Amino acid sequence: MRTSILAIASLLSIFLLLSIPCATSSNDSVHEAFLQCLYDQSQPSNPISAVLYTPNNSSFSSVLQSYIRNLRFNETTTPKPLLILTALDVSHIQAAIVCAKTHGLQMKVRSGGHDYEGVSYWSDSPFFILDMFNLRSVNVNISDETAWVQSGATLGEVYYGIANKSNTHGFPAGVCPTVGVGGHLSGGGYGNMMRKYGLTVDNIVDAQIIDVNGRVLDRAAMGEDLFWAITGGGGVSFGVVLAYKIKLVVVPSIVTVFTVERTYEQHATDVVYRWQQVADKLDNRIFIRMIIDVVNSTTKTGEKTIRASFLSLFLGDSKTLLSLMNQSFPELGLNQTDCIEMSWAESVLYWTGFASGTPVDILLSRTPQVLTHLKRKSDYLQQPIPKDGLEFIFQKMIELERPVLTFNPYGGRMSEIPASEKPFPHRAGNIAKIQYATNWNEDGVEIANHYVNLTRKLHGYMTPFVSKFPRQAFLNYRDLDIGINHNGPNSFLEGAVYGVKYFLGNYNRLVKVKTKVDPGNFFRNEQSIPVLPSRRK
Ligand code: FDA
Repeated sequence: MRTSILAIASLLSIFLLLSIPCATSSNDSVHEAFLQCLYDQSQPSNPISAVLYTPNNSSFSSVLQSYIRNLRFNETTTPKPLLILTALDVSHIQAAIVCAKTHGLQMKVRSGGHDYEGVSYWSDSPFFILDMFNLRSVNVNISDETAWVQSGATLGEVYYGIANKSNTHGFPAGVCPTVGVGGHLSGGGYGNMMRKYGLTVDNIVDAQIIDVNGRVLDRAAMGEDLFWAITGGGGVSFGVVLAYKIKLVVVPSIVTVFTVERTYEQHATDVVYRWQQVADKLDNRIFIRMIIDVVNSTTKTGEKTIRASFLSLFLGDSKTLLSLMNQSFPELGLNQTDCIEMSWAESVLYWTGFASGTPVDILLSRTPQVLTHLKRKSDYLQQPIPKDGLEFIFQKMIELERPVLTFNPYGGRMSEIPASEKPFPHRAGNIAKIQYATNWNEDGVEIANHYVNLTRKLHGYMTPFVSKFPRQAFLNYRDLDIGINHNGPNSFLEGAVYGVKYFLGNYNRLVKVKTKVDPGNFFRNEQSIPVLPSRRK
């Protein structure tokens, strides 16, 4: 018996010795053939060699890390790309698609790199990154209130481009200026004007995409189904989005912001309870985000307590705001001294946490204010959490200490838009979207697992109080816990697991569009839209 085990073991080691170099050399030869293909496709006027970074290049790591916005995926153990292609021209993207398709390589598309699970810059299978940060033009046309914005632009660059031309126009998108247009606009996008103007995708009028055959298509050429899909269904399942044409919205020259905080001892439970009754029913110019975290108690030394912070944007002056708040939400106790009037562009800085007086051109900076390790999850609140439920959650938050809950109110324009208008389905019937957020500074997989687990635990404690059957989630708050696609024979079934949570009844239409435009499933990632089983190649 012992002899036969030894014989099998030695046979196995011979097999491994033979097979490992084979696998490596086959990877190497695919890599080389892919590189050769890129060179062959290169046009003399736009040489591709100028935008290729392989691991042998001294800038490879810095180019890779420049747009890693979650340090959880900047570990030595994080899988690295075979190369990074920092496209400067459409021909570079076309070459990347044609060659990756020919050589069966996975392409990850990265614009701003803010994906919460880093799916734009790592993968478990061999891959390369198509980096879009060079394609970042923002062309604002105030006369027809539109702008063409390229995918590699940041939201800050878009906001600055608008504010530079008009102090009465804005755009309803996210509150972090370094977020990229490519991921944000293709995945839904929301910000503090959504109660008045809806989501970012509700304000897109045209787009340019490069499809799986390398064709550049605008809205008219791609057709309404594909345009619908890439305005909320995630661009990368369908092609490479080059640019979006957005519709600007009108903002008053003076807006008002405030931040009001209430600790548990200052009756936070009552105010939080009341916020749930009114936040989605207020005048749609008022947006009040509610953030609940754990802080040191100022009354009991050494103890922790709950703090609820109410961060607001009002599209109007402070006098009007106070009058509306006194009628609808007096329990918050808002005072004139809490209110700060400013321009809309300045309110973007206020919401991002910049000190008062910071020049608006800071919006052009691509350096994130905070770079940390993080985990995010999402939920939808459809019924107010009763007071004893709030007490339970607060107790659990104090035990867990680190995860923070952020509630973004819906209602207003969000409730008027039908759920099928865009792939994003979470419209009427939702009081708020909830974000679970845990940040930490320490490197390492073990510590990351610890904090990720804390986030999952809080998500677990919230189960009785949030949407059910399915428990819904927001695509732009990417969360691989809710399902992963291995893009193999079970891809269609695996896709439905997360797809229905992100898209509800719109999921089937997304699968149909995908099957039509990319039947070979070239554009894929851990949570992409799969093709119908009979059409997989
Ligand atoms: P990234 O480049 O990582 O891309 C994200 C996804 O889109 C990936 O799957 C990627 O492949 C794909 N993609 C990117 N460019 C593409 C292109 N040109 N064509 C096709 N596919 C492309 N959200 C929100 O709605 N409101 C908010 O206020 C915020 N705030 C916020 C703050 C911070 C600090 C972070 C880290 C994230 C947010 N988000 C957010 C979430 C954000 O909207 C989401 O992560 C976006 O997908 C990020 O887009 P990027 O281009 O930066 O990411």
